[in-house]
Amino acid sequence: MVKKSVIIGLSVAATVVVLTGVGVLTWWLVTRDNEVEAEPDVDTTTTTTTTTTTTTTTTTEATPEPDFIVDQLEGDGGFGDAQYTAAFTKIRDVGNIFWWFYPTTAAGVGTEKPLILWLDGVTGIPPSLLANLGMIGPYDINSNKRENSWVDRYNLLFIDAPLGTGFSIPLNNDQIPNNVDENAEHLAITLESFYTVHEAYRNAPLYILGQAHGAQLALALAIKLHQSEAASNLRGVVLGNGIISPALAMTKLGFYLEELGYIDGNGRAAIESLSQETTAAVNLGNLGNAFDNFISLGQFVNDNAGAIAVNLGHIVEKLTRQSSVTDYFGQRQYLRSVLKNIDFDIMDNVVGPALGIPATVKYDSGREYVIDAFRSTFMTPATDKVEYILQNTELTVSIYNGNLDAVSNTPGQLEWVDNLQWPGQAEFKAGPRRTLVVNRLVEGYFRNSTRLQFYWVNAAGQSAPLDNPAAMSIMLPRILRV
Ligand SMILES: *[C@@H]1O[C@H](CO)[C@@H](O)[C@H](O)[C@H]1NC(C)=O
Repeated sequence: MVKKSVIIGLSVAATVVVLTGVGVLTWWLVTRDNEVEAEPDVDTTTTTTTTTTTTTTTTTEATPEPDFIVDQLEGDGGFGDAQYTAAFTKIRDVGNIFWWFYPTTAAGVGTEKPLILWLDGVTGIPPSLLANLGMIGPYDINSNKRENSWVDRYNLLFIDAPLGTGFSIPLNNDQIPNNVDENAEHLAITLESFYTVHEAYRNAPLYILGQAHGAQLALALAIKLHQSEAASNLRGVVLGNGIISPALAMTKLGFYLEELGYIDGNGRAAIESLSQETTAAVNLGNLGNAFDNFISLGQFVNDNAGAIAVNLGHIVEKLTRQSSVTDYFGQRQYLRSVLKNIDFDIMDNVVGPALGIPATVKYDSGREYVIDAFRSTFMTPATDKVEYILQNTELTVSIYNGNLDAVSNTPGQLEWVDNLQWPGQAEFKAGPRRTLVVNRLVEGYFRNSTRLQFYWVNAAGQSAPLDNPAAMSIMLPRILRV
């Protein structure tokens, strides 16, 4: 295994550090303190302007250690024939974040095509596995070429986050973030490190797509990039079956399941009582207790509400009484059934070695710690983040929801989407609901305005690109404005 190390010079940051006298703080702490809280930072600007002439000579003497190093991986033979970069961004004192980039194979100038940054969250399956190999990347999990990969039209960047998930490993468990904003710091550094390796892609229109809880990661990163004026090419966020306001979506779960016939009125009453308890806990700030309720929903619906064996992430999947839906919202169970009993160890046994990942890295081994770390913040609604973006930026917000996902159930999603506070809301709501048709088949519906779009995706659960690629193929050009 050969490794190339790219040491990143930070002369600009060094200048800021010297000029402002901040001392030994690392540049990303400086960035957080100076730019996020108050922008523009008047003090910094003033100091810089007034002291430039007197301190310029000292600037070059600062020799800060690099704050991140990019380790580009070169394994034995690689994974598939597609061109890619797989790498660890090693953040000093924090941990190693894994990313996997594929330049588009579309004709024309690749760096002018959209770059889709894919995230999944605390309760999901890492992008390197589910999104890349399972759904949209150029190769499937058995190293077979995928027909209609998204790479045919767009550049793809999969990042395993938070630290502790996928191939991303924290220095120690204390470095696992416990909220999406802290995680956004790590993602912003990772994105910057990606651009230092692939400088030309700074020009590619950037869209951050988060599935399920990844939607919260996407929103936090978009806001972070906006506030720090990084990634000026950022154009929008895409929320796929987003876990945005989980307690609110839960208020519609009993209704949703009873209408579909999976439970009766008693089951609905049981779910609604759990839902009320959860909402009350969120309102009282008992977010940990609320999360415990939320995370046990699959078990509750099956064991206490009478559904017996349904998969909340893909409600029409037929299961046996013995089916294991103990993973978070059944995504692993569903992927196993769709990908013909795939063995998840393939990430450690085949993909890792092919990429050149050290054998000491065990795939997704920190998941339980990550769940634990986020326990007291996970249930915080992120609707204010959506509103912040709509109110304070020019970014587009595109939301799609597979109709067969009970966790992020569509009626529950519309509860917050229909109540967003921003100047364009009236225009959005006044628009007609239109039909998504592909090859004469109705694949879903949408409502759109200049900044906000909502898609109902038919015959799809939590992973809409897996279940309904046809709908995605017609939605993507609309979302990415190409
Ligand atoms: C919404 O979608 C329709 C149908 O494609 C299109 O004609 C219209 O221009 C879109 N509206 C906005 C504001 O983008």
